[in-house]
Amino acid sequence: MLRPDYPIRTARLVLRPFQEDDLDVFHAYRSLPEVHRYLYNDTASREGVAELLARRINEHELTEEGQRLALAVCLDEEVIGDVALKWTNEANRQGEIGYSLHPAFQGKGYAQEAAAHMLKLGFEDLGLHRIQAECDARNEPSWRVMERLNMRREAHLRHHELFKGEWGDSYVYAMLAEEYREPI
Ligand SMILES: CC(C)(COP(=O)(O)OP(=O)(O)OC[C@H]1O[C@@H](n2cnc3c(N)ncnc32)[C@H](O)[C@@H]1OP(=O)(O)O)[C@@H](O)C(=O)NCCC(=O)NCCS
Repeated sequence: MLRPDYPIRTARLVLRPFQEDDLDVFHAYRSLPEVHRYLYNDTASREGVAELLARRINEHELTEEGQRLALAVCLDEEVIGDVALKWTNEANRQGEIGYSLHPAFQGKGYAQEAAAHMLKLGFEDLGLHRIQAECDARNEPSWRVMERLNMRREAHLRHHELFKGEWGDSYVYAMLAEEYREPI
């Protein structure tokens, strides 16, 4: 069970649940091809993004496995992206993180900073044993975040799914609780 106290403050950012009036800014970046290219939720229409936002608004706590904690990443009260922690398995204490940023705010370490806090929530507050992150092997900015977080590349899955009409490769990165406590 994870019910964070909001807003969460990191060194430069505020993480908080999504709200209805985030639609304009959420749509502004989630509809960009360069942002949704490697995402599963790749709808660009305002209606599609509104449906996604409606789900995100309810994803502010983890009460059972399978749920996602999805938070708005804010800089000076402006939403610049989103970050998530999914509780994938309770018995095995497994989780998964994900992130995306408006392109105007990339290249400054904000995704790393927000994702680092999701590792903290997962390991310290939810008591997870292992947290993984997965991305398309071509999505170098994404796997570079994982490497800066000291996550370990555990797998290169070759052609394991048909992704947007073509065979896709994925990298799987992970970190164990003991590695989080004593960074390698
Ligand atoms: C994945 C994504 C969030 C990465 O964004 P990013 O801005 O590259 O990542 P960060 O915010 O951690 O910033 C890292 C960059 O900022 C630089 N940086 C500047 N100041 C920094 C700081 N204080 N701390 C850390 N990095 C800093 C780093 O050197 C790095 O640049 P480099 O890659 O040229 O070396 C972004 O590419 C994105 O939103 N993509 C679309 C959505 C997506 O694919 N999400 C992942 C799905 S699996």
